[in-house]
Amino acid sequence: MNDLFASLKEELTHLSTEDGLKRLCEKFPKENIKFSSALGEEDQVITHFIGRNKLPISLFTLDTGRLFQETYDLIDLTNKKYGVSIDVYFPDHSDIEKLVKEKGPNSFYESVENRKECCFLRKVKPLRRALEGATVWITGLRSSQSDHRQSFDVIEWDDDLKIVKYNPLLKWTYDEMQAFIKQNNVPINGLHKKGFTSIGCAPCTRAITPGEDIRAGRWWWESSHKECGLHETKQVQK
Ligand code: ADX
Ligand code: SF4
Repeated sequence: MNDLFASLKEELTHLSTEDGLKRLCEKFPKENIKFSSALGEEDQVITHFIGRNKLPISLFTLDTGRLFQETYDLIDLTNKKYGVSIDVYFPDHSDIEKLVKEKGPNSFYESVENRKECCFLRKVKPLRRALEGATVWITGLRSSQSDHRQSFDVIEWDDDLKIVKYNPLLKWTYDEMQAFIKQNNVPINGLHKKGFTSIGCAPCTRAITPGEDIRAGRWWWESSHKECGLHETKQVQK
C-alpha cells in the first residue's frame, strides 16, 4: 500500500481537482473510489465535477437521523441534476436505541464526551462500513475551515482506516469556492442563505452572525475544537 500511496501522492498533488478526480478513475474501478458527501458547498463542487464528467465514483452520505429537511431536499435535487445516486448509510439501529434509552435524545448538549459518543455512533462507525472495499476516500475538506485542518495534506494515508484519503479541495479558498458555485450554478443547501455556513446535524448547527468564524455554528455551545471524529484518525503524510 505504501507504494500505491507514494505514487498517488506524486501524481495527484499537483493536479487540479477535476484532473485529479479523472486520473483516479483511470486507475481504479468505481467500487474502489468512494466520495463522502455531507452535501456541504465543498461537497457539491466535487459532485459537480463528478456529474459533468460522468466520472465512475461512488458517492455516499452518512444520514445520522438528525439532519435538516433542507439536506434531504438537496440529496434529491443533486441526484436528479447530476444523474448520480448518493448511497445513504445509517447508524446501527441498536446503537441508537441503546443510546437514547440510556441518555435521552439530546445527550449531546450535556458534555463533550456525550457529544462525541453520539457523533461516533451516528457518523464515525457508519463511515467505516461505508468505506469497506474502498482504496481511496475522497472528502470535501478545505484547510481554511479550521486551524486543525491547516495541517492536512491533499493526499494522506489514514493509518486507522488503512485507506488513501484524497482531499482535492483542500487548497481552495472560501471565495474561490463561492465564485465557482455561482458561475456553475451548483445547487447548494437552502439554509446557506439563512446564515448557515457549515451545516451538520439540525440540533448541533446554528446560523452564524456577521464576523463569526464559518464553523462557529457547529456545536456552538462547545469551546473546544469542533470536529466529529471523522477527520481525527491518525494521518500519515509521507
Ligand atoms: S464535520 O466533521 O465537521 O462534520 P464537515 O461538515 O466540515 O465535517 O465536512 C467535511 C467533510 O467530511 C465533508 O466534505 C465530507 O467529505 C465529510 N463528511 C462530513 N459529514 C459527513 C456526512 N454526514 N456524510 C458524508 N460525509 C461527511
Ligand atoms: Fe449527534 Fe450532534 Fe454529532 Fe449529529 S452532530 S451525530 S446529532 S452529536
